[in-house]
Amino acid sequence: MPFDRFMSMALYEPGLGYYVNGLHKFGRAGDFVTAPEQGGLFAAALARQCDEAAEVIDDEWTLLELGAGSGVLARDLLSGLRRPPSEYLILEPSAPLREVQHETLSSLPDKLRERVRWLDAPPTTPFAGVIVGNEVIDALPVARFEMAEGRAREQCVTLEGERFGWVDRPPRQRVERAVEALQSHLGRKLPDGYVSEICIDLPGWIETVTEPLERGLVLFIDYGYPREEFYHPDRSGGTLVCHYRHRAHFDPFVWPGLTDLSAFVDFTAVAEAGVEAGLDVAGFSSQTGFLLALGAHEAVEQSGDDQQRLKLAGELKRLTLPGEMGEKFKVLGMTRGLDEGLRGFGMMSQLHRL
Ligand SMILES: C[S@@+](CC[C@H](N)C(=O)[O-])C[C@H]1O[C@@H](n2cnc3c(N)ncnc32)[C@H](O)[C@@H]1O
Repeated sequence: MPFDRFMSMALYEPGLGYYVNGLHKFGRAGDFVTAPEQGGLFAAALARQCDEAAEVIDDEWTLLELGAGSGVLARDLLSGLRRPPSEYLILEPSAPLREVQHETLSSLPDKLRERVRWLDAPPTTPFAGVIVGNEVIDALPVARFEMAEGRAREQCVTLEGERFGWVDRPPRQRVERAVEALQSHLGRKLPDGYVSEICIDLPGWIETVTEPLERGLVLFIDYGYPREEFYHPDRSGGTLVCHYRHRAHFDPFVWPGLTDLSAFVDFTAVAEAGVEAGLDVAGFSSQTGFLLALGAHEAVEQSGDDQQRLKLAGELKRLTLPGEMGEKFKVLGMTRGLDEGLRGFGMMSQLHRL
């Protein structure tokens, strides 16, 4: 089967897939720790950006979070926003994770908790507001290809006895076209033997999730690169990464369903899909640039208590140091009908890299 089919089953097969089997994934006892799980600094900075956008959007605004994980970001945004949204929508495909989110949000006062609504599909009614997706695009299934004699072959999954293994096949037409378009955008041919991934469903997904946004801001935060760096000749083995109990490994066939499976994000592709969907690309930055522009460090400086200051300093380091999440994670901001500059991109916008 094509690798995107395998990845989709490994992550979402009812009852068995990684995101739907009800096993613990987040935090210290799980497989990975996302930025909002580190503490409150990430959500506090994001809340400032949402507040700024909401100010020019409308008195009534909606926040749509894509893939809310443990619900920590939703909880911290709702309690940290100066003017909380009238509705906080969570698009979450995983039933067990919805339960975890319910539980996390139960600590909120009723008047905030009552604003949360879970969705199976993007809202059908148009809204003005903000869409946030932290570490969601990396979970979208990707096709995998290998270059041979100047053309793409598709790397598919086969069974070798009891084990899964790779097998090369002539590419599906969509994959072949996507790799051709990719090379023509890069202005160079990928060398023979070069292996990488491409998310052929990304444009459709971006269009679907952003379509109801009448006016407002879209923020995607994830690990990834601009296209030129993603398909750099030296990155010749692709970007697949698996997480199991805080260890990263690169073999997607180890414990499917028990191991998180993801690929880095081609942010140029996300921006292109956004433009195709009628959005304006407003800013692109490393996570460091975004968080510091929004004053994430101020909470550390202002903390009166030594122990608390140390704890916050540690959290800030994990979020912003180049060897931690700071450079690997990027933030892409796109808008519809908003001309105002965005504070998060005021310090280090790197749109030219896309
Ligand atoms: C790595 S977790 C990130 C969770 C959370 N945003 C955070 O930062 O902690 C990925 C989340 O995206 C959800 N997800 C996966 N595919 C999705 C999709 N196609 N649409 C919306 N959510 C998705 C997963 O169920 C999970 O909640």
